[in-house]
Amino acid sequence: MLLTINDLQVFTSGDESKQPIIFVHGFPYDHTMWDKQIDHLKDDYYCVTYDIRGLGSSSVGDGQYTMESYVDDLLEIISELKLTKPVLCGLSMGGYMAFRAIERSQDTFGALILSDTRAEADSDEGKLIRASKIKQINEEGIEAFVDSFVPTCFAHDTIVNRSDLFQSVLNKCKTNDPIGVKGALIAMLSRTDTTNYLSNISIPTLIIVGENDALTPPAVMKSLNESIPNSKFVVISDSGHMTPIEKPEAVNEAISDFMKKL
Ligand code: MLT
Repeated sequence: MLLTINDLQVFTSGDESKQPIIFVHGFPYDHTMWDKQIDHLKDDYYCVTYDIRGLGSSSVGDGQYTMESYVDDLLEIISELKLTKPVLCGLSMGGYMAFRAIERSQDTFGALILSDTRAEADSDEGKLIRASKIKQINEEGIEAFVDSFVPTCFAHDTIVNRSDLFQSVLNKCKTNDPIGVKGALIAMLSRTDTTNYLSNISIPTLIIVGENDALTPPAVMKSLNESIPNSKFVVISDSGHMTPIEKPEAVNEAISDFMKKL
């Protein structure tokens, strides 16, 4: 079912009396990156996803966002839908949001799934790279930016041997409004560091990473596993950063196993 909440496009699947899971997509993607997981889980769980403000089909608004305003949106969706102790599942930028949402309001959530993400804020070098991407969008357009950035998110094998899948994601990213994409870059470069909070996470946590993730490599995710008490760590073989798209069966299995033990 499609709903509009505070100018955001929200998609629900399954029976709302079941355990809710809310899926938060990465940058510069949209809710469809979770399609394979939702297909797999919707008979047993109430699956909710949405397009982050400024990306996909959600309103761009004034194009000025912070990680804090993204988390306000997330908490508002949870409140509007009256979700009780949802499992929060975020990939990369969705994970940045998840860390801050847990730091702000851990009691809201029943469990946490972190895919291909990190708790650290951007370094100075990282902030300057984001600034150069904004400049690239201004000077060369959104297509040039997507052509240079999105391939870094996928394993070489996926790009070469599953080019239809890769091209369809690439083309979809190019349909984003440049104002929303630049706003997301500023929200990411200005986000806070949640590393010091990790040892306070007491809800069950699953950590998933692609073996060949170049953006948030297994070593980065392993350190999350070491810092978050009782977390479970799963490496997805032959995948880059976009594990739910690149290796949906393995990700589905990891999530199903985790959910069954809650
Ligand atoms: C993402 O997948 O959300 C992005 O790679 C995150 C980032 O650029 O830091």
